[in-house]
Amino acid sequence: MPDRTRLDGRVALVTGGSRGVGRAVVRRLAELGAEVAFCYRRDVGAAEELVAELDGRASAYAADLATPGAAAEFVAAASADLGAPTVLVHNAGIASSGRSVEHTTQEEYLRLYQVHALAGAEACTAALPGMRTAGGGSIVFVSSVVARGLGAGLAPYAMAKAAVEALASVLSFEERTNGIRVNVVAPGLVSTEMGDRLVRAGSASSAAESLDAHYPFGRVCRPEDVADVVGYLAGDTSSYLTRQTVVVNGGGNPDTLVHEG
Ligand SMILES: NC(=O)c1ccc[n+]([C@@H]2O[C@H](COP(=O)([O-])OP(=O)(O)OC[C@H]3O[C@@H](n4cnc5c(N)ncnc54)[C@H](OP(=O)(O)O)[C@@H]3O)[C@@H](O)[C@H]2O)c1
Repeated sequence: MPDRTRLDGRVALVTGGSRGVGRAVVRRLAELGAEVAFCYRRDVGAAEELVAELDGRASAYAADLATPGAAAEFVAAASADLGAPTVLVHNAGIASSGRSVEHTTQEEYLRLYQVHALAGAEACTAALPGMRTAGGGSIVFVSSVVARGLGAGLAPYAMAKAAVEALASVLSFEERTNGIRVNVVAPGLVSTEMGDRLVRAGSASSAAESLDAHYPFGRVCRPEDVADVVGYLAGDTSSYLTRQTVVVNGGGNPDTLVHEG
């Protein structure tokens, strides 16, 4: 019996794969047998380290998704090198500054919207023809519980993630007849550099992991917790799932990054 969890022979693309959640996703997809291409913005050292670690199963592409068109160029370049992807994970993301709406600039709204939402749409537009030709595929967007919580000080980020989830829903309807599934993974606080910065901004703690004891199962979500769900959504054992949002927060408060249990 073939192992239906495996991704052998498939090409998987991941945006923002050099660090944090994206790096864990790249590792997971490679472990499952996919040939993985990922993009990163500026941390070339982290990207090269991951490529070396995965020893031929992953390749890295520099692409600043804040630039319109860069996501499509990444997909085109990786497809030319590896073949058409049938798995696409749009994970790259940046946090917003935490200012209130009154003090948020248009530049910040546009930057977050571009990186989270428009780059995701561009990547899909570029990847869809190949997935259709292959008879199907799986697209996964990494969103956040913030898209539900919509709390104070988060307007550019929350608006951008809400747009990501809208895109995922629309695409899931449009592509179902082409065998392409589209799902969302929405973590709460994750122990990454972004997670550490969020914790530092909101408390005296220095790192997300310093809050472990206060979180479900005795730990803040780890990147691998998110990557396991992405790996499942990428493969055939989730073949009847589309238009779903999986909240990965240990059953904590679904509306906020900060666990209050
Ligand atoms: N951490 C959390 O608490 C948390 C919670 C919920 C959802 N999320 C979401 O999870 C995803 C990953 O976040 P993370 O915590 O892993 O963040 P992270 O540790 O800051 O890593 C972000 C990754 O995205 C890449 N990236 C950022 N801006 C980019 C751009 N303009 N173009 C290309 N790549 C870019 C970075 O590449 P470089 O290093 O090269 O710049 C890096 O690989 C994001 O979508 C985030 O919104 C995070």
